[in-house]
Amino acid sequence: MKILGINTSPRQDSNVKAAMEVALSTAQEEGADTIIISTNKLDISPCQADNYCKEHDGHCAIQDNMQAIYKKIEDSDVIVLGTPIYFSDISAQAKLIIDRLYSYFMNEDYQKLFSNKKVYFITTNGVAPAESFKPSLETQINAFVLLGFQKGDILSLGGNNEPGAFKDKDDQIEKAKEFGKKLVN
Ligand SMILES: Cc1cc2nc3c(=O)[nH]c(=O)nc-3n(C[C@H](O)[C@H](O)[C@H](O)COP(=O)(O)O)c2cc1C
Repeated sequence: MKILGINTSPRQDSNVKAAMEVALSTAQEEGADTIIISTNKLDISPCQADNYCKEHDGHCAIQDNMQAIYKKIEDSDVIVLGTPIYFSDISAQAKLIIDRLYSYFMNEDYQKLFSNKKVYFITTNGVAPAESFKPSLETQINAFVLLGFQKGDILSLGGNNEPGAFKDKDDQIEKAKEFGKKLVN
């Protein structure tokens, strides 16, 4: 089983990335092949809505770093999108990726390919209660469902305003490990 982690936090000492590392290394111990890519510094343009993809078998016209991410998504069994919560929503970096997946929208071949793949989210945030951003996360994970992916769970870890705060929270590290086990089942 191949698991692709997509970390969209811009922080050096990112809480989301740390939580993803715990989850994916647990999945690795359970036998999965795992990789985490960090997208913040990559060259990824916003979707230009030119509908080139609709005339070209789901291929996007923009030749940037998203092309390698498309290949990795197509080649993975499980996708874990990691995002900090910004104003009760996903990061702009995460939205950039999701909008570029529009190239796959309404494409039967990709619908079929993705029907065997599952998508999970991991989020970290500051003080806001999880209910405040749950609707946004549901909307965004449902974008993957529209494309044909199976819907996995969302792990949200609060109280992580400061960079690296997650690493001091034994209970949250345990939750991330449990989440990692889920990824392979
Ligand atoms: C622009 C911005 C907006 C934020 N909005 C929220 C928010 O609405 N609710 C919340 O609980 N935390 C909010 N936070 C705090 C982050 O979600 C928190 O620091 C998170 O753990 C960052 O993840 P990272 O360390 O992986 O980058 C915000 C932080 C920033 C920079």
